[in-house]
Amino acid sequence: MKTVDAMLNAIHAETLLDVATGRGDFLLSLQQQLGSFGSGIGIDNKPSDEWKSDKFTDLPITFMQMDASQLEFEDASFDLVSISNSLHHMPDPCKTLAEMVRVLKPGGYFILYEMYTDNQTPEQQTHTLLHQWWGKVDSTSGICHRSPYTRDELIKLIECSTLDNWQLLDDLDLSGDAFDPEMLNILNKNIDNYLAKTKEADLINEAVSLRQRLQTIGFQSATELFALGEKRSS
Ligand SMILES: C[S@@+](CC[C@H](N)C(=O)[O-])C[C@H]1O[C@@H](n2cnc3c(N)ncnc32)[C@H](O)[C@@H]1O
Repeated sequence: MKTVDAMLNAIHAETLLDVATGRGDFLLSLQQQLGSFGSGIGIDNKPSDEWKSDKFTDLPITFMQMDASQLEFEDASFDLVSISNSLHHMPDPCKTLAEMVRVLKPGGYFILYEMYTDNQTPEQQTHTLLHQWWGKVDSTSGICHRSPYTRDELIKLIECSTLDNWQLLDDLDLSGDAFDPEMLNILNKNIDNYLAKTKEADLINEAVSLRQRLQTIGFQSATELFALGEKRSS
């Protein structure tokens, strides 16, 4: 059976664009896992302090502040475009996907990596519920952050990208301890940070249930859909 690692290892990309890169973690993992990698650009509409961190020093990686729905690059500029766990943050996901296809060279690769919400274990559902709560809190301050999609919704979205021959893989790892104290501590701190952003009673009550759920059911990361598309060179 194919794995994400094996699929990435078979790809050689001279120029790479990671859209909605955040702290650049996905770009860094591509740099480490691709068969070969020339240089990469990460774009995000919000700059991150991490862009200046030591982990990127000496790497052929640069970052730019930019809106994913209006990429400031010429058509056919990149051998590989990627987007990880960000499609559900886009006000118009199809527009972002279309922009990414526009800047992709014919024969180039498109990688989507995004968690989905259905067919999850109870521990993984904790991740979904937390994520939906983060989205609701963000929405109260006008930030576009909808619930992550179901697997079928994601597939419908990539179908609007005009690429066809997609290869799909479900990436999950249920080997970790769902009650790992360090992880629960990080998640509880994350809930504290989000609580500081809202005064809405419903959302505050939901946080209490989420904390209880972490203690009783535990947490594991939701399954990610890894989708690899190729732009035909017609
Ligand atoms: C959950 S983070 C994912 C970050 C990264 N891709 C990862 O997998 O770790 C979502 C990112 O989307 C970015 N984002 C939201 N709307 C955007 C837009 N219109 N253009 C560019 N980036 C955007 C946010 O600033 C945030 O960094």
